[in-house]
Amino acid sequence: MTTSRLEVDLAGIRLRSPVMTASGTFGYGLEYMSLVNFDGLGAIVVKGTTLEPWAGNPAPRIWETPAGMLNAIGLENCGVEAFIQDRLPQISAYDLPIIVNVAGRSVAEYPKVIERLETAAGIAGYELNISCPNVQEGGMAFGTDPEMAASVTRAAKAVATRPVIVKLSPMVTDIRSIAMAVEAAGADAISLVNTFVGMAIDIYQRRPVLGNLVGGLSGPAIRPLAVHMVWQVSQVVGIPVIGIGGIDSWQSALEFVLAGAQAIAVGTGFFVNPAVAREINQGLENYMEDEGISTINDLVGAAWQ
Ligand SMILES: Cc1cc2nc3c(=O)[nH]c(=O)nc-3n(C[C@H](O)[C@H](O)[C@H](O)COP(=O)(O)O)c2cc1C
Repeated sequence: MTTSRLEVDLAGIRLRSPVMTASGTFGYGLEYMSLVNFDGLGAIVVKGTTLEPWAGNPAPRIWETPAGMLNAIGLENCGVEAFIQDRLPQISAYDLPIIVNVAGRSVAEYPKVIERLETAAGIAGYELNISCPNVQEGGMAFGTDPEMAASVTRAAKAVATRPVIVKLSPMVTDIRSIAMAVEAAGADAISLVNTFVGMAIDIYQRRPVLGNLVGGLSGPAIRPLAVHMVWQVSQVVGIPVIGIGGIDSWQSALEFVLAGAQAIAVGTGFFVNPAVAREINQGLENYMEDEGISTINDLVGAAWQ
């Protein structure tokens, strides 16, 4: 259980803890039911959902790296219709905000998915994945150009009655320009970062190990890069920022909050330690008790000076 110290208002979505699940690493929540105490979570962000079912990339799709992993899942998912019919009723049983991560091959697909989701009850908001490195079309291409990032955001906002979070790619020269473009286009919040593009080579096959050749690097290896980007973005936008990238402890979660994140999401960290959300909450509560801080909101951006 958490106390009111950890409560966060994320663009109108009330979280009882700032700890969310990072899209694609927690399935639809159902896969973790026997492993994770959901009381410790602020929200569940489900995996990337598209208009039609996607088969994803050829295997192998996962490769462990020093302090991280490469993945090239390729947004395999059951499609929005099956999500609404089969998955959503099951996860709605939990008393938690459900945020649906939305992906598409074209700008027009994003509002189509959202229009369908708008007809379903039990969804708190949307997260636009404009940053996936593992799909040929769309995905990261939208997230690396301010104009395209803004047009996807505008298209989603035109049909969404719920908050729209835009998830940024770190594979850019200046992440602040993308963040400011999506804020101007109406984004209610920004999440960052998605994975960094990487590759590993099998030295005996003399070939890349992943079926997709390249994959997205996640885990503690990317944490300092992600903290820096959260630091940069949160100082130039007025909307909430969700910090993501290698969080595996309360200390690493707190780094993101102090850098300017109002909430954080854990991905790869759950694979290593399914109890990580509860441990983060406990550590943050203890820290605030020791430091005489009554709400986590007072720590957001406290490292800026
Ligand atoms: C296996 C796997 C699947 C992912 N699938 C998605 C996805 O469907 N949509 C998305 O926006 N991000 C996806 N991501 C990116 C994560 O949500 C997160 O941004 C990234 O892994 C960095 O956080 P971490 O270091 O805590 O894992 C995926 C990451 C992994 C490892």
